[in-house]
Amino acid sequence: MVVAKLVVTASLVCAVVAQDAITANGGNFTLTGDDVSYLFHVNTASGDLVSDHFGAPVTDFVPPAFILPWGWHDGKVNDRREFPDIGRGDVRLPAIHIEHSNGDTVSAFLYQSHEIVPGKPSIPGFPATYGNESDVTTLQVQLYDNVSDVGAVLSYSIFPKYNAIARSFKITNNGTSDIVIERAASFSFDFPNLDFEVIEPHGDWYHEMNTVRRKVDYGETSFRSTEGYAGHTHNPFYMLTSPSTTENSGEAWGFNLVWSGSFEAALHKFSNGYVRALLGLNPLHASIRVAPGDSFQAPEAVSVYSSAGIGGVSRSYHDLYRNHLSRHKATHETRPILLNSWEGLGFNINDTAVVNLAGESADLGIELLVQDDGWFGVEYPRNNDSLGLGDWTPNPAKFPNGLKPYIDQIVKIDVVNASTNDSTNTAIKFGIWVEPEMTNLNSTLYNEHPDWILHSGKHARTMVRNQFVLNVGLPEVQDFIIDTVSRIADSAPISYFKWDNNRGMHELARPSDSYNYILGLYRVLDTLTTKYPDILWEGCASGGGRFDPGLLHYWPQHWTSDNTDAADRLQIQLGTSLVYPPSAMGCHISKSPNGITGREASFTYRGHVAMMCGSFGLELNPHELSADEIAQLPSIMADAHRVNPIVISGQFYRLAGPQDSNWPAVQFVSADGAEAVVFAFQQQYTTKPAAPPLRLQGLDPKARYFNSLDNGTYSGATYANAGINAGWDRGIYQSKLIFLEKR
Ligand SMILES: *[C@@H]1O[C@H](CO)[C@@H](O)[C@H](O)[C@H]1NC(C)=O
Ligand SMILES: *[C@@H]1O[C@H](CO)[C@@H](O)[C@H](O)[C@H]1NC(C)=O
Ligand SMILES: *[C@@H]1O[C@H](CO)[C@@H](O)[C@H](O)[C@H]1NC(C)=O
Ligand SMILES: *[C@@H]1O[C@H](CO)[C@@H](O)[C@H](O)[C@H]1NC(C)=O
Ligand SMILES: *[C@@H]1O[C@H](CO)[C@@H](O)[C@H](O)[C@H]1NC(C)=O
Ligand SMILES: *[C@@H]1O[C@H](CO)[C@@H](O)[C@H](O)[C@H]1NC(C)=O
Ligand SMILES: *[C@@H]1O[C@H](CO)[C@@H](O)[C@H](O)[C@H]1NC(C)=O
Ligand SMILES: *[C@@H]1O[C@H](CO)[C@@H](O)[C@H](O)[C@H]1NC(C)=O
Ligand SMILES: *[C@@H]1O[C@H](CO)[C@@H](O)[C@H](O)[C@H]1NC(C)=O
Ligand SMILES: *[C@@H]1O[C@H](CO)[C@@H](O)[C@H](O)[C@H]1NC(C)=O
Repeated sequence: MVVAKLVVTASLVCAVVAQDAITANGGNFTLTGDDVSYLFHVNTASGDLVSDHFGAPVTDFVPPAFILPWGWHDGKVNDRREFPDIGRGDVRLPAIHIEHSNGDTVSAFLYQSHEIVPGKPSIPGFPATYGNESDVTTLQVQLYDNVSDVGAVLSYSIFPKYNAIARSFKITNNGTSDIVIERAASFSFDFPNLDFEVIEPHGDWYHEMNTVRRKVDYGETSFRSTEGYAGHTHNPFYMLTSPSTTENSGEAWGFNLVWSGSFEAALHKFSNGYVRALLGLNPLHASIRVAPGDSFQAPEAVSVYSSAGIGGVSRSYHDLYRNHLSRHKATHETRPILLNSWEGLGFNINDTAVVNLAGESADLGIELLVQDDGWFGVEYPRNNDSLGLGDWTPNPAKFPNGLKPYIDQIVKIDVVNASTNDSTNTAIKFGIWVEPEMTNLNSTLYNEHPDWILHSGKHARTMVRNQFVLNVGLPEVQDFIIDTVSRIADSAPISYFKWDNNRGMHELARPSDSYNYILGLYRVLDTLTTKYPDILWEGCASGGGRFDPGLLHYWPQHWTSDNTDAADRLQIQLGTSLVYPPSAMGCHISKSPNGITGREASFTYRGHVAMMCGSFGLELNPHELSADEIAQLPSIMADAHRVNPIVISGQFYRLAGPQDSNWPAVQFVSADGAEAVVFAFQQQYTTKPAAPPLRLQGLDPKARYFNSLDNGTYSGATYANAGINAGWDRGIYQSKLIFLEKR
């Protein structure tokens, strides 16, 4: 009865704030995007929220499936629960699990009221999507458990143009004793008995974002990170598809957690065939205590639906994230071509060597020189990876005058146009490497603050790569990192930071230390990126170990993998592009044969693979370039300059992937549709069969486009339906870069 009264209140609210994207007809909620509907309602008898539909557009609420109400599982287990809690007859995986002070874990979150607000309120302390009232509308549903005196606010924001729904929730302890959050799935939707497959990323260091596609069968299909960070082995992302869905057709739903810490993704198919899709915190890293009067905030999860296949979901995420997640201004800017000192100098750096390298790089047309590891440490000079980490003062033996004098000298060096040997009248920029969340045992920092390291009582502190993780959940550690990075940034004209993080978390005193760490990290990043908006920040975690939407909120780009073998990189980059925009990827040319895989590939093949990313560069010693490579460099640099604006703002299409084809290919179409660029590859040479035609996408079928492959001018329809032939010659690891111009 209480519920019925509240529903009436709700309809009044709705009558006042009418928004096209969200309607609340009584307790029936409809979220509408250009090509998506999301429906759920209040069960007026119980007060529970019930999932109705998430998928292609619908206009009505229809009665649920009939399930014989006999046997062990009647009642609530057959309800499609929108915010499933524990107890009360639902035996499937819950979205929320709370332990109350008396040990009781039953919760009953029942509908109380709701509100529809234009735009999207920010989530203080958390990275999240954002937008104004013409981009997004938000529904907030208040639930209350009046036995435990705990409230929940579920937040739903729909970005109609992107068919995207962002969800999060906040739990408020209104009682008189502590509660403990044991599980919190930010997104949960209860699908009916439909056949699904799931595409999930998996991998490791040097092997990120490979994917496996499998049937969602009875029981639980799940994966997680318990590394404290998003990690390499999985990513907080999965895609549900129909069995018949392909890259370009069929239904697909993406789910991505805007969180850089441990997570859990789970699909639970029950005996009735219903599939509950969940994405949220990893329960092994939860147990988050909430005192009376305090609140717990779950991170945001973003789901995107497309009826145009896997590629449709990817393109929606790319645009949504560039326009409404990443808040760094460089997101929309072309990026400087960079060279990193690591391959050339390793730990053997000093001011003269770096100045010389900057000069050599500028002569090749490099626009940003990045000084990597090895530059710091006074008492413990960082001459190898067993000492100095944490001591962010320039090593006086290598840099007797500190950072400023030689960096001042570097940023006066003119960059040469590789095609003409003329000056570009632009000076080379300087960037620096840091790994501020870590320390070595052999460091002044560790000697002074052994208690700042993650640790659990007297348990040994597990060392990996000779290093420990600072507990960034501690405010004093956050301040230390903010002060340290500010001091470096203020000391010299530094325009880029590569922020590395090379191991997972170890001993946690409490499971919730991981959650608090990530919130502390967000405070640090929010402060630094606000203070230094002109610095280009690149995330890195032994490669792609933290390529996640949480960090993309603050930083415009992330290093995609330490693996720079171009053939491997095709797989890694295409896997990453399932959800993250290529414009946010860092990709470099390295030497051939590759240092780890030993694979040989031509300079152009390596160049083409690297320039399909927003941040292109060289990861090699310029002295080791062959005469042949030097001769090809001007055209590589010119192509990289031409391609970059299209990669930064264009639409991305996977034409064929290296898992399925010997001729992988991708395409970008410029934001204005006037240009397109195709990267086509031949991995192995086969006498038979012939390579398939390159059938392009995203072109206007009626418009005509000139192409730089055969110099023909054809209609968009011809490119899409007949395609063009790349004309592969003999040889392995071949590549072609094809430009199209609308005529
Ligand atoms: C809500 O939807 C149900 C069907 O699930 C329908 O019976 C009911 O009339 C609807 N309520 C309103 C206020 O439209
Ligand atoms: C909202 O933001 C969009 C860009 O996402 C912009 O085009 C539009 O003018 C803005 N509208 C308002 C009302 O601020
Ligand atoms: C709490 O819920 C019970 C039923 O479960 C109801 O009888 C009671 O009125 C509710 N109290 C409040 C304050 O809503
Ligand atoms: C929280 O508790 C206070 C004091 O008991 C009460 O006035 C208030 O209504 C409660 N909040 C909710 C959402 O029920
Ligand atoms: C600086 O480093 C270079 C290259 O490692 C080395 O040859 C040179 O001797 C070093 N100079 C000084 C002053 O240490
Ligand atoms: C690292 O450098 C320190 C000091 O230069 C040296 O004592 C130590 O042996 C080196 N460790 C390795 C593994 O090279
Ligand atoms: C190099 O010079 C060519 C020819 O003048 C010009 O088209 C190109 O834009 C220049 N590139 C850069 C990076 O300045
Ligand atoms: C640029 O200079 C290099 C090295 O001096 C030379 O090999 C190359 O031919 C020159 N290129 C042009 C376009 O003048
Ligand atoms: C530094 O610490 C490592 C353990 O990480 C140890 O093996 C090494 O001997 C220590 N000393 C130096 C000088 O590297
Ligand atoms: C296309 O035109 C360019 C420049 O005019 C020329 O170098 C190239 O050989 C032509 N390619 C074909 C296949 O005709």
